[in-house]
Amino acid sequence: MSDHKKLQDWVSRMTELCQPDEVVWCDGSEAEYNSMWDLLIKSGTAKKLNESLRPNSYLVKSDPNDVARVEDKTFICSANEEDAGPTNNWQEPEKMRETLIGLFEGCMRGRTMYVIPFSMGPIGSPIAQVGVEITDSPYVVTNMHKMARVGTAVLDHLGEDGEFVPCIHSVGSPLTDGQADVAWPCNSKNIYIVHYPETREIWSFGSGYGGNALLGKKCLALRIASAMARDEGWLAEHMLIVKITNPEGDIKYIAGAFPSACGKTNLAMLTPTIPGWKVETVGDDICWMKFGADGQLYAINPEAGFFGVAPGTSDDSNPNAMKTLHGNCIFTNVGETDDGDVWWEGMTDEPPAHLIDWKGNDWTPESGTPAAHPNARFTVSANQCPVIADEWEDLKGVPISAILFGGRRATTVPLVNEANNWNQGTFFGSIVSSEKTAAAAGKIGELRRDPMAMLPFCGYNMASYWQHWINIGKKDDAKLPGIYYVNWFRKDDDGKFMWPGFGENSRVLKWIFERCDGAAQAIETPIGNLPTIDAMDFSGLGLDETAIAELLRVEIDGWLQEIPMIKEYYAKFGDRVPAEFHEQLEEMQDRLEKAKQEAA
Ligand code: OXD
Ligand code: MN
Repeated sequence: MSDHKKLQDWVSRMTELCQPDEVVWCDGSEAEYNSMWDLLIKSGTAKKLNESLRPNSYLVKSDPNDVARVEDKTFICSANEEDAGPTNNWQEPEKMRETLIGLFEGCMRGRTMYVIPFSMGPIGSPIAQVGVEITDSPYVVTNMHKMARVGTAVLDHLGEDGEFVPCIHSVGSPLTDGQADVAWPCNSKNIYIVHYPETREIWSFGSGYGGNALLGKKCLALRIASAMARDEGWLAEHMLIVKITNPEGDIKYIAGAFPSACGKTNLAMLTPTIPGWKVETVGDDICWMKFGADGQLYAINPEAGFFGVAPGTSDDSNPNAMKTLHGNCIFTNVGETDDGDVWWEGMTDEPPAHLIDWKGNDWTPESGTPAAHPNARFTVSANQCPVIADEWEDLKGVPISAILFGGRRATTVPLVNEANNWNQGTFFGSIVSSEKTAAAAGKIGELRRDPMAMLPFCGYNMASYWQHWINIGKKDDAKLPGIYYVNWFRKDDDGKFMWPGFGENSRVLKWIFERCDGAAQAIETPIGNLPTIDAMDFSGLGLDETAIAELLRVEIDGWLQEIPMIKEYYAKFGDRVPAEFHEQLEEMQDRLEKAKQEAA
């Protein structure tokens, strides 16, 4: 219980609405965590893994209809439709409220309501925010224990009148008249993930999975926080944060935005291949940045854990993640080995001869279906990561020297490209795009624009969000980070990746690190500043000179073809697009045309 009147009132109102059998205030203790697993094992939701192979870890299988974020059921209910913008689903706030009240009425009958006070960011950090999630899912309680700071310490911090974001969640599956429960209760036909950016509320109904249900992550830390950040002059971003130390012991922190499925967790935990360099993790998914008194942007990772995609994670692709997962983990929708451990596609070269797949069926390599769902996840505390930076929980955050934007592009976008200034870098962020599928590789027309990797996560009009970025750059005495557009995914004419990626990305990070000090060489090009061949360390990679030249080539024609596509894209946002972007685009077009004429 809490002495916070507003919190008490809200919990009372939600109790009346949802009509649970019982209300439990979560204290965040280990005993509470363990008691949730006792319940989840009894209900058939979870299974404890082999203690000697994967200590203190659990395997959970979801309903096959509830396996991922549902973007088409995610709503931004601002008073004006235009404030949600063309990239978000909007509904009139009061109309949506009626729908929600109808859905939530009695939705927790036969269940327990858990009240989880949580802090996004280290408790007491001036950059952190507090939320309170009400949920009827003990699985959500266990995940929130790992992904946020939860319980009594947060209530103590809130005191009698601290600010909090109310987040209500229900699986939407009441149990009436002694009805037996199912292993993964949900209401997959009636999913609603609703955000009120103006009143700062989150309502989530029908799904128990990931970002739909762990409301601190995408809902609070990105959609609601982006609106807070706009109002208060800071940045809430879909970015990893890494600490880089050079052989001399100098340190810099870099943030990076990449669309989902572009290897963010791998980059956040990268093992450098260049001698003497060290990369450590501050965060793998979300970054909140506020100006410090010295004019620099200071960042925290608002999360306390990693909710990572399991398939593809291996000792080759991400050895540090594999070490992080040694125990004390939650695995959802992965395969289960005969000796009671976990397996997923890509974990080992040789798949086990037999498994139980994520749907609970017998599986062999001949089955022809994946053992783990492609969006199967691990949940684990960040402090288990062997390369977590000592200062990852520093209350004041870490000063950011550079920001990366990257997409998955087979053509046109070079390995790395430095913006000349903040406005150009922001413009780069706005045009980030990925090829929709591997099959479309090289087909320039089939791109999904994912500006700043925030397409599904921006809580207001995307073009106003761009303007907010431009405004951040106008702050007096700001010492702004450099901005870099990177692309690890260039392909050659045979469709083969040209850049090895993973640990070799440290070579690009090194160039960026040295550029921040004004040390490394670059050449000015029509699209920005590219490394000179000598400035980047390609030694020992086995890449021939043509490949290197190709990775760093400015594709004049490719970029010229891109320009009308960008114009068409901006047109969707009408006059909210910052004037600075139109200027950047015009100037880039002029430079490209001039370069083309000179080459002719
Ligand atoms: C995530 C995502 O789960 O970006 O982090 O989809
Ligand atoms: Mn993400």
